[in-house]
Amino acid sequence: VPYPAHTDSDFPPLKNDLILRVARGETVERTPVWIMRQAGRYLPEFREERAKHDFFTICRTPELACLVTLQPIDRYEGLLDASIIFSDILVVPQALGLEVQMVPAKGPHFPDPLVDPSHLARLRTNVDVNEELRYVFEAITLTRTKLDGRCPLFGFVGAPWTLMAYMIEGGGSKTLSKAKSWLGRWPEESKTLLQRVTDVVVDFLVGQAKAGAQLLQVFDSWAGELSPAQFNTFSLPYIQQIPKRVRAALREINPDLASIPMVIFARGAHYALESLSTPEIGYDVISLDWTMDPASARARIGNGVSLQGNADPSLLYAPIATIKAEVAIMLEKFGSRTRYIANLGHGMHPDHDPEHLRAYLEAIRDVSTQRKS
Ligand code: CP3
Repeated sequence: VPYPAHTDSDFPPLKNDLILRVARGETVERTPVWIMRQAGRYLPEFREERAKHDFFTICRTPELACLVTLQPIDRYEGLLDASIIFSDILVVPQALGLEVQMVPAKGPHFPDPLVDPSHLARLRTNVDVNEELRYVFEAITLTRTKLDGRCPLFGFVGAPWTLMAYMIEGGGSKTLSKAKSWLGRWPEESKTLLQRVTDVVVDFLVGQAKAGAQLLQVFDSWAGELSPAQFNTFSLPYIQQIPKRVRAALREINPDLASIPMVIFARGAHYALESLSTPEIGYDVISLDWTMDPASARARIGNGVSLQGNADPSLLYAPIATIKAEVAIMLEKFGSRTRYIANLGHGMHPDHDPEHLRAYLEAIRDVSTQRKS
């Protein structure tokens, strides 16, 4: 059963469109900010919900996913300029038929990962995202309604290479030696797997936009484990299919949906900055990790795309005075009013102090409001 396509008129009017305007390249009155993993274990109210429910139960129950998505929006009232739907990149491997558990304090665990190419036969063919991932679409529609226009809502996916890495490693890994051995031993079968994941990722993003997501982010969290040549063979060709195919599908449904801004976060892929920011690929925003210098990143790619990021998440362990000083330097380097969305260079850590995040958000608001450019 297809999920109904929603448009702006199905939802409360948007009262804060800063981030959408920055994604389109407009100059704004202050720097918009949101934070990767802004809903999560650093928040006591999240830990309270998590004590009652399994991780994937929260993801699969639209009311619970909505509740935890709104926790940081409510707590930091007026300080966050976007929300991101509570879910996980690993719901796509689940939709492909693999079992994934979330083990507290350990992270994701696949009891039966893909060991060699004969295991590709275990993956579901013709995945119907409207059936397998409908719960995400329902969570998005409900959350956008409950947000009541306070800020836009992000949908997201894992990039094909990062998902392939988890499907083969079966969980986190220091070296990715299993996944990377596929690339050398079975390059053609690796490409088959990457293409099958890409097809699901594209359908899933189209569904999230139809459900009400107002921006879409692609997380290639393991890009930095690849050499430039490997990235160009096994990640970029799939990442670059996504905006074109998603927009073409949305245009068929409703041309208004096709202009949805798309963000790419290829963590650690310094060498890929130029190739990811070409207009032909079609990402509006490039998210930088904290190992990249904002000014040199901007100099390398020009002004055609917006940048997002990128303080080291560990900055939030520092005293509040240090946080404020570092924010001023960061906004100076990015230039706060055009083509810049503040975030961290990666996600929140479970042991971060929520009040230090508040100081970071307040500093971005205050400094960017006072700056002239
Ligand atoms: O607030 C948000 O950002 C939205 C929710 C969100 C989660 N995961 C919730 C989550 C998002 C956007 C993700 C993306 C995700 N998931 C990525 C890409 C971003 C990144 O961090 O690089 C990756 C690699 C995953 C896979 C994943 N999920 C890992 C490696 C882990 C364990 C690591 C950890 O932080 O414990 C998860 C678990 C996870 N996903 C948690 C949350 C809140 C914590 C698990 C728990 O509550 O038990």
